[in-house]
Amino acid sequence: MKWMCGLGLAATLIVQPVMAESPFGTHPLTQQARDAFVAQLLDKMTLDEKIGQLRLISVGPDNPKTVIREMIKKGQVGAIFNTVTRPDIRAMQDQVMQLSRLKIPLFFAYDVIHGQRTIFPITLGLASSWDLDAVNTVGRISAYEAADDGLNMTWAPMVDITRDPRWGRVSEGFGEDTYLTSQMGRTMVRAMQGKSPADRFNVMTSVKHFAAYGAVEGGRDYNTVDMSQQRLFQDYLPGYKTALDAGSGGVMVALNSLNGVPATADSWLLKDILRDKWGFKGITISDHGAIKELMKHGVASDPQDAVRIAITSGVNMSMSDEYYSKYLPGLVKSGAVSEAEIDDAVRHVLNVKYDMGLFNDPYSHLGPAGSDPRDTNAESRLHRVEARDVARKSLVLLKNRLETLPLKKSGAIAVVGPLADSQRDMMGSWSAAGVSGQSVTVLQGIRNALAGKAVVLFSKGANVTDNKGIQDFLNQYEAAVSVDRRSPQVMIDDALAVAKKADVVVAVVGESQGMAHEASSRSDITIPSSQLKLLDALKTTGKPLVIVLMNGRPLALVKEDSQADAMLETWFSGTEGGNAIADVLFGDYNPSGKLPMSFPRSVGQIPVYYNHLQTGRPYDFEHPNKYTSHYYDAANGPLYPFGYGLSYTRFTLSEVRLSAKTLPRNGSLNASVTVTNSGKRDGATVVQLYLHDQTASLSRPVEELKSFKRIFLKAGETQTVTFPIDVNALKFWNARMQYVAEPGRFDVLIGLDSARTRKGTFTLL
Ligand code: BGC
Repeated sequence: MKWMCGLGLAATLIVQPVMAESPFGTHPLTQQARDAFVAQLLDKMTLDEKIGQLRLISVGPDNPKTVIREMIKKGQVGAIFNTVTRPDIRAMQDQVMQLSRLKIPLFFAYDVIHGQRTIFPITLGLASSWDLDAVNTVGRISAYEAADDGLNMTWAPMVDITRDPRWGRVSEGFGEDTYLTSQMGRTMVRAMQGKSPADRFNVMTSVKHFAAYGAVEGGRDYNTVDMSQQRLFQDYLPGYKTALDAGSGGVMVALNSLNGVPATADSWLLKDILRDKWGFKGITISDHGAIKELMKHGVASDPQDAVRIAITSGVNMSMSDEYYSKYLPGLVKSGAVSEAEIDDAVRHVLNVKYDMGLFNDPYSHLGPAGSDPRDTNAESRLHRVEARDVARKSLVLLKNRLETLPLKKSGAIAVVGPLADSQRDMMGSWSAAGVSGQSVTVLQGIRNALAGKAVVLFSKGANVTDNKGIQDFLNQYEAAVSVDRRSPQVMIDDALAVAKKADVVVAVVGESQGMAHEASSRSDITIPSSQLKLLDALKTTGKPLVIVLMNGRPLALVKEDSQADAMLETWFSGTEGGNAIADVLFGDYNPSGKLPMSFPRSVGQIPVYYNHLQTGRPYDFEHPNKYTSHYYDAANGPLYPFGYGLSYTRFTLSEVRLSAKTLPRNGSLNASVTVTNSGKRDGATVVQLYLHDQTASLSRPVEELKSFKRIFLKAGETQTVTFPIDVNALKFWNARMQYVAEPGRFDVLIGLDSARTRKGTFTLL
């Protein structure tokens, strides 16, 4: 298992490539040696060469390979992204070594978000596992495969807190909760970077999008963010801070403005907070074309102004625009930007290249040319076993009336729906270098599981959407969605005929992967109507209806919840998705996933998040009162709460036991519950600890996740789960922006989701 090497778990297995001769000699990977090396190198560089290092570009129509070759020759480019095979990467690094004056190696980056060749569940699905070991596996394998392709950096993890499912990019993050996101982000960074990003099978991470991109107004991508300092520091910043404290070498700057200031122009964020308060020593990289966009934001009057603002605000490297290269020389000449400011940015670029080991060996992730894989997409390069295991853990059972699931491996099963046999959709968006043709669909997975033991019937039943405008939108850049030209009624009739012949109907419905992506915001979060009509029709057959959802965001599912006998949330679960889903449908794996985002009942309820404030007039559904905080045309609260997910077995929880009634400031106490698997199957669940500050100088959330433990219990088995609590878990940013824990009473809430908890109370002295 070479992919484990990065953490030193199997160090003896590392096959070290033959070190290429470095024009810079060999230097120890210490900060002291690095600083001395980089200072000397900087001294040798012309202003143009320095500015060249700040440029990050991808090969494409604007920058064809021939143009990039010339840039490399002149030292006008610092790094490349979106080039993902060893021969291509090697060719560019060769050009640096052969043609450029100083031979400063390029680094190569890519969006390795949920896998490189092997695709794992989308990040939101990964978060549903609440399993840090699974996150570690994904991080290790992704880094291994990315490094094996010659890459040095990934634009991940995305740790933006997301409370608005209209935003397509919720699919890329770990959900609505700060604690869960922080834990997962930290694990991902450590897994990908290992002991050092210079090691053969590790890559450097670039945490994104700094800051608060997840809070764009109305869930509309690239939109404005406006929030209080308290909320920013309490809920939105810790995810980035934890991932950076874990050692991430990079951070990507957000595209949005925050309280009126675009992040790309925000020296308070990028210097005062990131550098001065948090002590971040790595590199800041703009998002795609963000420097140019400062003019559109209306904070820069012309290109020179945009460049001056970005560089002086602390944006070290510019992604995908030519502005730094074009305008920095003039700005330095005129004195509008000091050379010291340029040096500072270049130092960060050279530092990360040093940390990546590129000065010791520019080919460190490439090895000799003869070692390139014969077939980049070879099956043997995939990690299917791990992909299947992680995918199973990411599935969330939302409903299971009268134990509809697991299904028997006999009789006839109708598999219906436009997503049932879609390899492309199984991969999800941002599927890096993954090949759709290598993914297993739900239909294939079911066939594999049954292997002739039962009859499998299939009908597409509907298009993902019949809306021509949306079809065109989804197919704008790739042929992502195949549109069946039969009429909707003919397709439904076909599905009905199939359903009638079966004992049970498995309907695979939801979103196409392109519907939950960057620039894919929705104003409506229901399943498209073509598929809803299909579900209505299937319901008329009276056959047990199992809905298998594929989607990249929480959907509004009130009607589907009432129609389904069972409902399984599968997100976009990656290369082995179909097999993993079949494992759960047939009971070869007992589902244990828990939602990392609340599922609203309708778009009108948004934002719906579990850790909201109480308000002065909280609604009480047992004693409804008009003048309380609620909608009169909809129930309060989500359809499925944060942390929710069922199992094929039943877990029961004891009352909460506290080791003490008071907590001294310098002490700690233990909160415990006893969990019993009182059902008939072995299974895993996630025990969740929430805290609530009853009275404080600021209104505090009704509950906040502070810890969780994933446990596995055999049928009939019992386990006591204990959570230590100390003053750090009780701290918050007060009105004066001091981080304090105020004395008083706190509720300890422990449950298997955020809505049904057992309670204890203690006093902080
Ligand atoms: C996205 C980033 C991504 C970058 C490079 C941008 O449009 O916002 O998340 O890393 O493109 O692909």
